[in-house]
Amino acid sequence: MKIVILTGAGISAESGVPTFRGPDGLWEGHRVEDVATPEAFRRDPVLVQRFYNMRRRFLLSGAVHPNPAHLELARLALQPGIEVTLVTQNIDDLHERAGSAGVLHMHGELLKARCEGCGETSGIREDLEPATICPECGEAGRLRPDVVWFGEMPYFLEEIGRAVEAADWFVSIGTSGLVYPAAGYVSVARDAGVRTLEINLDESATSGIFDDSLRGPAGEQVPRWVAGIIAAR
Ligand code: OAD
Repeated sequence: MKIVILTGAGISAESGVPTFRGPDGLWEGHRVEDVATPEAFRRDPVLVQRFYNMRRRFLLSGAVHPNPAHLELARLALQPGIEVTLVTQNIDDLHERAGSAGVLHMHGELLKARCEGCGETSGIREDLEPATICPECGEAGRLRPDVVWFGEMPYFLEEIGRAVEAADWFVSIGTSGLVYPAAGYVSVARDAGVRTLEINLDESATSGIFDDSLRGPAGEQVPRWVAGIIAAR
């Protein structure tokens, strides 16, 4: 059985990582246009680096751990006869810490930097500053967080599209369904005759398209769903 799972910020909420779209419409106190666009980075690289530095420090602070939803998805992938493709919009590393391998980070990763000079990516755990030197080419001032900003092309799109069309199940967990192309995968799945399930605390913008839904916190609903799949086999 082939299962494609798409996760969003909601799966990491119970681990203490804030979601993007809070009730005040702000993203940790910043307007999203001030920190998550290439234009913002060109205009104010210090602000943008500081914003991601804060998030990286928090992720590595020891306060953040995978929750049962991350752990159960890793367990599901180890079951014989089940092939999981795990796609995440999240830039944290909680799926990896839970034991998932080969995660497709379509919006990039906070713990990687990319050099706009040589194009190489490198692992990063320290703060990035405008003067940080690229470990690959030695040039200063060209490193940026390896995250996908608004207006940029997400990663792995072809691979994800193929996996969705070939799946038996498409399961979306903790995403608002507002940001494309990720929000469009449920329609791709439906058009390909793939069974679709949404797990979310609340209604999302695409809830009406899914065949089935489980409402509630991912930390409770995902373990319940995974247990059901395993028990049924
Ligand atoms: P959002 O912040 O837009 O949505 C979070 C979703 O998670 C909402 O639908 C909530 O109802 C749900 N949620 C919150 N807590 C939950 C919980 N404990 N259990 C289950 N669901 C819960 O986050 P995303 O949809 O991931 O992109 O946002 C998509 C993209 O927008 C992000 O990857 C980022 C952002 O701009 C880029 O930076 C390119």
